[in-house]
Amino acid sequence: MAVRHDIVLISLDPPYRLGDESTVFNFIGWAEVDDENRPNIRLSINGVDVAVTAQPNPKVRTIFPDIQACSMFARVNFPELFAGHTPEEPFLLNVEVKSDGRTRLFEYEVSEGWLQAVFGRPVRRRRIPPEHLQIRVTGAAAGQFHVTGRRVADQIAGILARAGRPLTSFQRILDFGCGPGRVISSIKDMHPAAELFGSDIDGEAIGWARANLADIGDFRVNGPNPPLPFADESFDLIYSISIFTHLPEDMQHGMLAELRRILKPGGVLLTTKLNPEAYDLPDDVRTQGVNDGFVYWGDADATEGLPGFYRLAYHTEAYIRRVWGEYFNVLHVGSHDLNNTQDAVLLLRPKSEGGLFSRLAKAFSKA
Ligand SMILES: C[S@@+](CC[C@H](N)C(=O)[O-])C[C@H]1O[C@@H](n2cnc3c(N)ncnc32)[C@H](O)[C@@H]1O
Repeated sequence: MAVRHDIVLISLDPPYRLGDESTVFNFIGWAEVDDENRPNIRLSINGVDVAVTAQPNPKVRTIFPDIQACSMFARVNFPELFAGHTPEEPFLLNVEVKSDGRTRLFEYEVSEGWLQAVFGRPVRRRRIPPEHLQIRVTGAAAGQFHVTGRRVADQIAGILARAGRPLTSFQRILDFGCGPGRVISSIKDMHPAAELFGSDIDGEAIGWARANLADIGDFRVNGPNPPLPFADESFDLIYSISIFTHLPEDMQHGMLAELRRILKPGGVLLTTKLNPEAYDLPDDVRTQGVNDGFVYWGDADATEGLPGFYRLAYHTEAYIRRVWGEYFNVLHVGSHDLNNTQDAVLLLRPKSEGGLFSRLAKAFSKA
């Protein structure tokens, strides 16, 4: 196998949604191959193999000069493909393309009418948010929303299990900064008995989640600063993926104290950070990050739909232990182990307050 770079160059054309009229559909795309004269491209849909034709596509070399690639085409008649199949619910169309050693999964949302026509009965379906809401939280809308959410949920479960606190041991769980529900949808699959909540400052994302994910959790809008719309000691577990990677330092302090308030004693907070030494930052920014342990950087208003404070925050492990350790017991600081290249930070609100954590003690003494 001759894969020479990290990126999987396999592409299927959007849109990644099939409406009532698309029960026969043409999948069109291209894939990198080892030998364009002898392509080995296979396509399967929800585990069922589909015939695919491929032919050399030298035009791809105008964008990726060194590769060999083939165009691919597959015409799929879904009522025939799925005849006699029992659909998995909630249903999502998962299209897997393999080309020599490369694999890429594309997911397509299907309409209620499509499901009725293909399976002859109503089938519960998995929803995918509109493209601009996907882009707001992941930077892309390329048929990967739930695939990446599942990967993050698996990583969350793995980190918790290694800390001796399996996901299924938590009952009331908050996804803080849930966006339109990328991760929480998979957490529901993995732990159906949990009571799930999501909150975010993005009213549009929460509106979409309320309208489309009501069977998964209770979704609420929160302001950028405390208080959060939850009572004291509401949750056994809070996870928060790629939120503290975007907050300025004062807002971070407010939210750490607030998340501690709504966690039960003995409860756990799992969040993420970025390591300033691991990224290609301007020298002065990296130096500040490494020396101070924290740096906040990037363009204001860089993310459509999100407030100007939303930039990039970098923390060193030493900073987390020193500063966040004033709110929580630090159980684990990882390296590139959660949400692509982010570092997991696992925190415990201890069962007994003992000596009040120093930041909280200072806040109380001022009150
Ligand atoms: C990079 S996205 C991640 C979304 C989601 N956790 C995921 O992994 O798909 C960051 C999210 O944090 C939200 N956010 C930013 N500041 C927040 C705050 N102070 N409180 C709650 N959510 C916030 C944004 O609206 C956005 O949905």
